[in-house]
Amino acid sequence: MMILRIWTFLILLALMSLWSCRTEIPFDPGPMEPEITDTTTNVNPGDTTTTPGDTSIINPVDTLSEPCDTGIVYFESQILPILQGNCAFAGCHDPVTAEHDLILTSYESLMSHDDVVVPFDLDKSELYEKITEDDAEDRMPPPPNAALTQPQIALIRKWILQGAENMTCENMAGDVCDTTAVSFSSDVQPIFNTYCITCHGSSNPNAGISLTNFNGVAGVANSGKLLGVISWSNGFLRMPLGGNQIPQCNINVIEAWINQGALNN
Ligand code: HEC
Repeated sequence: MMILRIWTFLILLALMSLWSCRTEIPFDPGPMEPEITDTTTNVNPGDTTTTPGDTSIINPVDTLSEPCDTGIVYFESQILPILQGNCAFAGCHDPVTAEHDLILTSYESLMSHDDVVVPFDLDKSELYEKITEDDAEDRMPPPPNAALTQPQIALIRKWILQGAENMTCENMAGDVCDTTAVSFSSDVQPIFNTYCITCHGSSNPNAGISLTNFNGVAGVANSGKLLGVISWSNGFLRMPLGGNQIPQCNINVIEAWINQGALNN
């Protein structure tokens, strides 16, 4: 009898230690470990001739996710929204239309062309030439769409001159989604400038809705349509038309601004 009890005890002990091992298994390296994404395959290995200095910067491009450096332009959070808002919509450079075989919805598709963006070289980068074209006939986005703004052009220029890399980082100033006291002019209007005014500009806007200033935005905000179309709610059109949904933080900011009274502040 005694021996049986000891055996039961030992078996239980063995089972318990096994269990505790199992729970320890997926070892979490903790938040300090940088996340490494290999983007080597996206870069054309032959295309280093135009690089003035250190060609190793372009190839391979390893993307380290680390705290953001304000001197660096980050593709996904800074350049991609400009392309999506102004180029990648229905009828142009979206995956369906792919005007001139060019799809501007991801780093991979953008860089799959040799001459659209040439790292470090503005003159050879067709994208830069098109957005800075004086002749409206040749400019992108083409009329009646508005040209990119000077700050947007400056950012693309800086990104190309930094090697047109696909860098990401954590805690971008704009990533901290602060919805406490939302200001129309500094928090809300810039979102429409990035994603909407190509189609909802000041002259001849789509659906007769101009989103370039407070009056236009407040009109759709108060009718309830604005939140519906950006959050892709049932029964609403999905804006930006033909494009990706805008980042959740931007939706939250617009929603907070509406809940705070849709003020012209
Ligand atoms: C590619 C062009 C394009 C972009 C970019 C775009 N829209 Fe639109 N938008 C349209 C068109 C076209 C219509 C009219 C569609 C229809 O009536 O079928 C429309 C309609 C709307 C409407 C009216 C919906 C309704 O039910 O009456 C709102 C509100 C709107 N857009 C907001 C936005 C916002 C906000 C953004 C940016 C986040 C945006 N749009 C980006 C083309 C665009």
